[in-house]
Amino acid sequence: MCINVAVLLSGNGSNLKAIIDKGIKVSFVASNNPKALGLKIAKNANIPLYSWKNVSQLEKEVLKLIIDYNVKLLVLAGYMRLLSKNFVNSLPSKFIVNVHPSLLPKYKGMNAIKQALDDNAQYTGVTIHYVDEGMDSGSIIKQSIIKINDNDTEDTLKDRLQEIEHRLYSDTIKSILIKN
Ligand code: GRF
Repeated sequence: MCINVAVLLSGNGSNLKAIIDKGIKVSFVASNNPKALGLKIAKNANIPLYSWKNVSQLEKEVLKLIIDYNVKLLVLAGYMRLLSKNFVNSLPSKFIVNVHPSLLPKYKGMNAIKQALDDNAQYTGVTIHYVDEGMDSGSIIKQSIIKINDNDTEDTLKDRLQEIEHRLYSDTIKSILIKN
């Protein structure tokens, strides 16, 4: 697929890996965390990578890179900072997507998996949504539900949710790119 996406991440980058493995063209990866393992995945795939600890500088530079690389979709893949209103409003609507490990609007923000377990929820899932300036509040594109087992821990549930994320996120990104 030749339409460019860019990826912002802060951590492991397993979703980045899934996106690359699905053949989606990633023009650059940027991070607020210079030590993010996801940057190594970008490096191994010969994808240009950038990192700025200062989030307002990162946003300024990413806006320039989006133009330079002719990016059509900005993909958040474990980017652990809230984007500023100015950043979001500088881009077209429906330009930024995110993956979240809960059935939004339930369990927004950090520790979504722990929140579901602490709540004794019977079900949880994965949400792919557009990003606005709020916290996990943009319009929902796709969701996938799973049952929480009695013996689930944060780790087992995370593993099962990530397996879904890897498939659902890249499939959803592909279908958005095809439609645009
Ligand atoms: C994922 O669980 C995603 O739902 C959340 O951050 C995590 C990123 O995982 N937004 P990875 O860095 O892609 O492995």
